[in-house]
Amino acid sequence: MRNPIRRRVRANPEPRTANPEPRAEPRSQRLYYHNGVFGALASLPSVPFAPGPTPVEELPRLRAALGGGPRLLVKRDDTIGFAFGGNKVRKMRLVAADALARRADTLITGGGVQSNHARVTAAAAARLGLRCVLVANGDPPERPTANALLARLLGADIRYVATREARALEMEAVAAAQRAAGHHPYLIPIGASTPLGAAAFAHAVLELFEQVSPPDVIVHSTSSGGTQAGLVAGCALAGVRTKILGISADEPAGTLATHIRRLLSGLADLIATESHHPRTLAEADVAIDDGFVGEGYGVPTPQSREAIELLARTEALFLDPTYTAKAMAGLIDHWRRGTFKHTDTVLFWHTGGQVGLFS
Ligand SMILES: Cc1ncc(COP(=O)(O)O)c(C=O)c1O
Repeated sequence: MRNPIRRRVRANPEPRTANPEPRAEPRSQRLYYHNGVFGALASLPSVPFAPGPTPVEELPRLRAALGGGPRLLVKRDDTIGFAFGGNKVRKMRLVAADALARRADTLITGGGVQSNHARVTAAAAARLGLRCVLVANGDPPERPTANALLARLLGADIRYVATREARALEMEAVAAAQRAAGHHPYLIPIGASTPLGAAAFAHAVLELFEQVSPPDVIVHSTSSGGTQAGLVAGCALAGVRTKILGISADEPAGTLATHIRRLLSGLADLIATESHHPRTLAEADVAIDDGFVGEGYGVPTPQSREAIELLARTEALFLDPTYTAKAMAGLIDHWRRGTFKHTDTVLFWHTGGQVGLFS
């Protein structure tokens, strides 16, 4: 009988010693030491909200349910142990450090009523003893659930606006009012998708390559673009051919790609230590599939429902309805259509958000 315990891919299989015997360097360390830019990324100030690598695991039962084929891995950012985890925690480590460096006393951000990013921002503020104002588009819930419940528990001051478009203006207005009241606000754009937020994911690529050889394809959910910009940048800077396939949760591919290119250019400025890096990033491929949004942001589709059930029943992994279920629906569809080669290694980057199952 197959061993039911999933094999966890080990990070850094051999401890480093002071005087190591000469031996072949694992590929990841070659990349790290020969590419000074990763040193620049690693030295960006960071608040240690649950640092350390997240597991990389095989998905043998899902792979079998899909009829076999490429090797299938998952990177478990859903397991990050701070405020229910997810990709926003990686970004927040750097963004919160920047807020502290600027002596901010109030974090301001926005999102939907069930925003994961808002939950993580509120959690960072609570942990650091800062104030937090969230601008949410939608109606105040009568009985808050999931992220809305957690944001309240975390003590955030939540303001509601009618539309997504109204959020940015309201955030500016809140910041102005805070300044007038003698506070030092720090405004975090939607999804913390700034060059600094993206830098967190460029660095996460190095974390991955210390665990496994670069996969052929990474599939993940994309929305405000910071995660994808970082993954694309990390792979480009490491000089690997890994294809990054972002599955859109809402925006059309063209709009999102333009935004991601802007983030890549900002990230190049942030980390440029050698003149060729900005060009490397500008030329990087940005692949987005917007064919799994269905009727809109957060609205389930038959494929996203299938993905949630399939992952739970084959691997006891939980996907969220808004982001990761649609991303996995995309992966499954590409798998069934034979987009991936039999010899490929396909990695699903689980960006968290599972709190959304309880909304
Ligand atoms: C769970 C989850 N996955 C993926 C994303 C998309 O990441 P990004 O906004 O960096 O594109 C989000 C964004 O809100 C998210 O909450």
